[in-house]
Amino acid sequence: MFDVLVFGSCMIDFISYVNRMPKSGETIHSQGYEVGFGGKGANQAIASARLGCKTAMIGKIGNDGYGKKYKEHFEKEGINTDFLESEGEHSGVALIIVNSIDGNNQIVINANANKYMSADICEKAKNIFEQSKILICQLEIPLDATIKALKMFNGLSILNAAPALENLPNIAYKLPNIFCVNELEAEELTKITFNKVEDAKQIIQSLIREKGCKIVIMTLGKYGAALNIEEESDKKIYHVPVPSKNNLVVDTTGAGDCFIAALAYFYSKYPKASLLQKVAASISIATHSVQYKGTQSSYINFPNIDPLTEKFEHHEL
Ligand code: RIB
Ligand code: NA
Repeated sequence: MFDVLVFGSCMIDFISYVNRMPKSGETIHSQGYEVGFGGKGANQAIASARLGCKTAMIGKIGNDGYGKKYKEHFEKEGINTDFLESEGEHSGVALIIVNSIDGNNQIVINANANKYMSADICEKAKNIFEQSKILICQLEIPLDATIKALKMFNGLSILNAAPALENLPNIAYKLPNIFCVNELEAEELTKITFNKVEDAKQIIQSLIREKGCKIVIMTLGKYGAALNIEEESDKKIYHVPVPSKNNLVVDTTGAGDCFIAALAYFYSKYPKASLLQKVAASISIATHSVQYKGTQSSYINFPNIDPLTEKFEHHEL
């Protein structure tokens, strides 16, 4: 049995840390440089495994040195790679610029080998689908493969609709139990502007009423997250802020992936916790990751958080 099955992308992250973003046509020096394992799918798999979930990863790597290293990396973290396949292509690559002043980033992804994910792999990996409790998908691989995975899966499914796809078909909103986006992705999908936390209410209502989502979790960066707690109802929408003791922000890259993995972890290990408790505890774990450089390099092992006893703030929007 697997607690978590991640169906998605693997990228190598090339990260430049700068004091300001370059203007169009401009060249600037970086203040720091890191190469690391990334990709939203792989980040979610590594974070799940480190938190203590038995995890499997289905994805594509390139037939280059990076692909080989990626497979070894998953194996070192105890992740099942029976369906991590290599393609005659470059591994996926993400070019990331992090602004050291506020920790925010800009990312360009080159999907490369990830483009070869197809619906067929779901049939091949049928056993793993049947043996997993939670499925996590994102949008860095071809959509038909993701839709097939969501259709085939019988447990709890989470779609992290990142990066936002224009014209995302309705089925992608309807299939997953949990639809999770950040504020920019939510704006892109609903065409409703997010200026302040209160705007999350209208955005979530639109995702439920117009698109057919069941549970929407909208992550809001330094403002925490907003969500509806009842499946397919937008009657009560809550805001859960970031705990005020954590103010240091070094690098927000991959914090959303860490949040998703933490949510899956709390679903699998704390089934009695309420959704609000799970989300609040996941925010604490993701908040830890923004205090350190890089994506996977900032994810913790075995957290010391019990969502059932932890005190957290929340209020209805
Ligand atoms: O969510 C962060 C991730 O997005 C990075 O690791 C990068 O690879 C891109 O996929
Ligand atoms: Na980080």
